[in-house]
Formats: sequence, C-alpha cells, structure tokens
Amino acid sequence: MTLAIDLTGRTILVCGVARGGIGGATCRQLAKAGATIIALDKDEALIAPTVEDVEALGGTIHPMVVDLMDKAACETVIAKVFDRFGTLHGMANVAGGTREGEWMPLDETPTDSFWQTFQLNLGYIFTLCRDAAKTWIAREERGALVNVSSVSSLTSAPWHGPYGAAKSGITALTRTMANEWHEFGIRANSVLPGAVYTERVMTRVASENVVQGSEQNFAMPEELANAIVFLLSDLASGISGQSLTVDRSLSTKFCAGARKSRKQLEAEKQEA
Ligand SMILES: NC(=O)c1ccc[n+]([C@@H]2O[C@H](COP(=O)([O-])OP(=O)(O)OC[C@H]3O[C@@H](n4cnc5c(N)ncnc54)[C@H](O)[C@@H]3O)[C@@H](O)[C@H]2O)c1
Repeated sequence: MTLAIDLTGRTILVCGVARGGIGGATCRQLAKAGATIIALDKDEALIAPTVEDVEALGGTIHPMVVDLMDKAACETVIAKVFDRFGTLHGMANVAGGTREGEWMPLDETPTDSFWQTFQLNLGYIFTLCRDAAKTWIAREERGALVNVSSVSSLTSAPWHGPYGAAKSGITALTRTMANEWHEFGIRANSVLPGAVYTERVMTRVASENVVQGSEQNFAMPEELANAIVFLLSDLASGISGQSLTVDRSLSTKFCAGARKSRKQLEAEKQEA
C-alpha cells in the first residue's frame, strides 16, 4: 500500500517556470502527481524547456506569457485562465527574486527600484491570489494557494532590504488569505527557501564568490517543489496560513556555523 500525492484532474497555475529554477521543478513534480499545468513566465523561451520536460514525463502543460512587472497585465491573468481553460484548482506563485543590479545598501536604494522589487515579489501575488479567490468564491469552488517567500523574511540580510521586506509581506499576506478565505474552502500557505541550487543563484554565487563553506545547506529545487506540491494537494487539507521553511536547516545556524561532517573528521584524523 502506498500513500501518493494525486492531483489527477486538477489544473494548477505556476508563475515563474524557468527550467533551472524552483518553478521548473514544481512543474515537473506536479506533472508526476497527475496535474494539468498552466505555465506562466515573461518570455516564451523561458517556458519552452519546461514544456519539453513535462511533455517528456507524459504530462499536460499550457504556456502563458505574462510580464508580472506589468500591473495591468496581472489584472487580466485569472480571467484569461478561466476563459481559456474553464477551471483552476490551485496556484503556485514562484516568480520573484532579486533583479540584476538591485543589491545595494538601503541608503542608496532608488525609490523606483524599491517598488519594482515589491511588484515582482509581492504585488503580483496580491493581484493573482485576490482574483483567484474572488472567482472561486463566486463559483463556490475550493482552491489552494502556495506563495514562495524566503528565509530573508525571517531575518535581515545586507543589500537586499526591499527583497526581505517584500518576502515578509508574502508571509503576512498569505496568513490573512488563509484567515479570510478559510470559510470558502480556500487554503493559503507560504514556502520559505533558504539557499537553493537554482541556475540563477549558482550563476550569482560563481560570479560573486559568496556563501563559501555553506554549500552543505543548499537545497535542491525539487526539495522546494515537493513542499509546494504537498501544500497544493489534499494531503495538506488541514494546513492553511502556515510558513514552511525548506532550507536544510540553514536558518538555524548562528553565523552559518556548522558541525563538522564525519568525512571531515575522518580526514583530519588521517592527517594527524
Ligand atoms: N534560489 C534560492 O536560493 C532562493 C532563496 C530564497 C527564495 N527564493 C525564491 O524562490 C523563487 C524562485 O527562485 P529561483 O531561484 O528558482 O529563480 P528563477 O530565476 O529560476 O525563478 C524565478 C522565475 O520568475 C520568472 N520571472 C522573473 N521576472 C518575471 C516577470 N517579470 N514576469 C514573469 N515571470 C518572471 C523567471 O523567468 C523565473 O522563471 C523566487 O521567488 C525567489 O525569490 C529562491
């Protein structure tokens, strides 16, 4: 006997689906669970490799090109989803991150840059979740929402203050979604990645030579995807308004200190 996550017959919208990221992994894991996927990103070329992956797994996936920085375009997403596909059972808002050239001290941060970070990491999530909930309530349908925040919402990190503030906003807003929409059968949770081996982050690590020594705390995109898929599924029917940290314990480390691995201890013994 097995206990499997079964999303057969469910249509899930995933925002931010690049192959090398958490969203791409979420699409692949959703396909394995039997869901039909609507894959949203700002550029067709970013969606195509994930479509290829999902189809290779035998899954069904529909691309949708939307620039989530465009507030007017965000207002039309959920209506378009229901027009085109007639249904929606859940949504994973994975799109986000820090933009090129955005890392700087707060006292040097231009106002425009602050609000752009907020649109990409909080604003679009408000718009899409509001519209999905409104539609589900009107149609008397249930739904599940998962919003990707960050451990940056738990503590501060220099040079990306607006990002941490927006990610904190996600966890706060998601709790309110759970509170206000519970009676309509709508669940909302947030997932907090620590450091993840995604293409975007690894390119940055390589170019800026940061986080040396903390690689053992890096999670794989699939580990985040599994948490997202679980929270979208009926196995999580009792969970709403929660923030699930998936960071291989990174956020428990004071100054990123770590116990030595057995391998390191053995190597040291041999050297002595
Ligand atoms: N990777 C990490 O270490 C890490 C850590 C903490 C939080 N996160 C969060 O996880 C999420 C995914 O990050 P990732 O590392 O997988 O990066 P990623 O770059 O692979 O994923 C971000 C996705 O958002 C899409 N996107 C960006 N701007 C967009 C726009 N204007 N319109 C539509 N789509 C847009 C990108 O094309 C991409 O598919 C982000 O919200 C990020 O803040 C990641």
